[in-house]
Amino acid sequence: MSRALPEPWRVKVVEKIQLLPREERERLLVEGGFNLFKIPSEAVFIDLFTDSGTSAMSDWQWAGMMQGDEAYAGARNFFHLQDTIRDVFGFPAFLPVHQGRVAENLLFSTVLTRPGMVIPNNCHFDTTRANIEVNGGVALDLVIPEGRDSQASHPFKGNMDLLRLRRLLVEERGNVPLCMLTLTNNSGGGQPVSLANVKAVSELCREFDVPFYIDACRFAENAWFIKQREKGQGHKSVAEIVREIFSFADGCTMSAKKDGLANIGGFLASRNEGLLETLKQRLIVIEGFPTYGGLAGRDLEAVSRGLREVLDENYLRFRIGQVESFGAMLTQAGIPIMQPTGGHAVYIDAKQLLPHIPPLELPAQALSVALYREGGIRGVEIGSVMFGSEHPETGEPIPAPMELIRLAVPRRVFTNSHLEYVAGVLEDIRDQRHTLRGLRMTYAPKVLRHFTASFEELAPERVAVAV
Ligand SMILES: Cc1ncc(COP(=O)(O)O)c(C=O)c1O
Repeated sequence: MSRALPEPWRVKVVEKIQLLPREERERLLVEGGFNLFKIPSEAVFIDLFTDSGTSAMSDWQWAGMMQGDEAYAGARNFFHLQDTIRDVFGFPAFLPVHQGRVAENLLFSTVLTRPGMVIPNNCHFDTTRANIEVNGGVALDLVIPEGRDSQASHPFKGNMDLLRLRRLLVEERGNVPLCMLTLTNNSGGGQPVSLANVKAVSELCREFDVPFYIDACRFAENAWFIKQREKGQGHKSVAEIVREIFSFADGCTMSAKKDGLANIGGFLASRNEGLLETLKQRLIVIEGFPTYGGLAGRDLEAVSRGLREVLDENYLRFRIGQVESFGAMLTQAGIPIMQPTGGHAVYIDAKQLLPHIPPLELPAQALSVALYREGGIRGVEIGSVMFGSEHPETGEPIPAPMELIRLAVPRRVFTNSHLEYVAGVLEDIRDQRHTLRGLRMTYAPKVLRHFTASFEELAPERVAVAV
C-alpha cells in the first residue's frame, strides 16, 4: 500500500504563535487602514503572507552561519557561494545582493538606456515591474492565455506566449534590451514554465540578439514540476534539469529568500563579463564590496548551503505535495482556487467567491481582511490593489485582470494541521460570504502602492444593495 510520506525533517526549535482575541484583531485592522502589511507579525496566528525570507533553515545552514567570515573583502563564504552558483546553475560569475530587487535594480538601471524600452516576461513580479518602470521602461506580461484563466487546465501555465513574444521582437526591434522569464510565475499563480518553453524563449531571444535572463526565485520548485509533468524529463534528476534550464540563459536575478532557503540574500549572475563589471561599480555604491554585496559572511554561507539543499528531491516532493494537498482541502471546502495549485502558494479566486463585490471595490483585499478578522490568518492580495492602474488620459481606475489572494506556504515552517485550520476558517468565511464588504482606497502612493496604501470598508447598506 502506498502512502504519502510525512515531512522529511523533524522539529528542533519551536516558535510560539498565538491567536489574539477577535476585538484585538478588529482594532489592529482599523488602526492599520485595512492593510495587512501594517499588522505586527506577533498579532498574526498563521502567516501565509509570503514564502519569501520566511523559510526555516536547516541545522546544516545554522552550522554554516557559525562559520561566517566577516572580513570586508574576500570572505571565504563568498567563494563557497561562487562554487555553489557554478555547480548548481553553471554561471561563471555573479554579484551578491541583499535581496532580489537589488539585482533587478542593478540590471534595469543599466540596460534601460532610453525611455520606452520594453522588457517582456511571462508575468513581471511587482518589484521587477517597479524597477523597470522607475527606470523609464515598459514591463510587458506575455504569459500564455491559459495562465490568465484561473480554471484553465495546463501543466505549464507559466509558459511565455511565443507568438506574442515573436511579434513583439519584430515590432520593437532594437527597443527590447532584455527578455525575462520568471520561474515559477509568481504573479500568475506560482505556475511553472516547461523546459521546452525556456528553450524556445532562449532561441527566439538569440534570433533577435536579445539577452535572456531568468528570474530564478523558485528555480528548484519549477524544476520539480518539469520532472513530474514534462514528457521525457522524468528520468533526470532535479539538479540536472536545473543545469539544463540555466544553460539556455545569459544570466539570472535571484532572491535567495525563496529557493535559497535563507532569510535574506540574493544575487545577479551573468555570462556577460563586461556587463557584470559595470554593475559591480554600481553595486559598490549602493550595496557594498562585491564579495559581500550587502550581506554578512554568515548570510552568504546560509544561501550557499540552501541552494544545494533545495535540490533534495525528498524535500521537493513533500514541499510541492503539501501545497497541493492544501489546495485540495480548499477545493473540498468549496473555495475556488487557481487550478492546478502552484509551487509555493494557493491562490484563491476572489472574483468567483465574492461575485457581489465588483473588481473596483477590491474583492481580494476584502477577502484578505476577512481571513485576518476571522482567523488571525494573513494572506496577500494579488489583484487590483497590487496591479490595478489608471487610464493615462482620463485617470479612470482600471482593475487588474484577476482578483486573487495568495496564501503562500513558507518552506519547512507549518505542518499540515496548521493548513487544515486555515481551510476551516475559509469554509466559515464561505458560509457568510454575502456579508463581506468591498473597500475603497483612501491613500495610494504611485509606486508599489499595496505596501503602504490605506483603505476603508464600504458601508454595509451599500453592500446590501450590491448583494
Ligand atoms: C518572482 C519574484 N521576483 C522577484 C522578487 C523580489 O525579491 P526580493 O523580495 O528578495 O527583493 C520576488 C519576491 O517575492 C519574486 O517572487
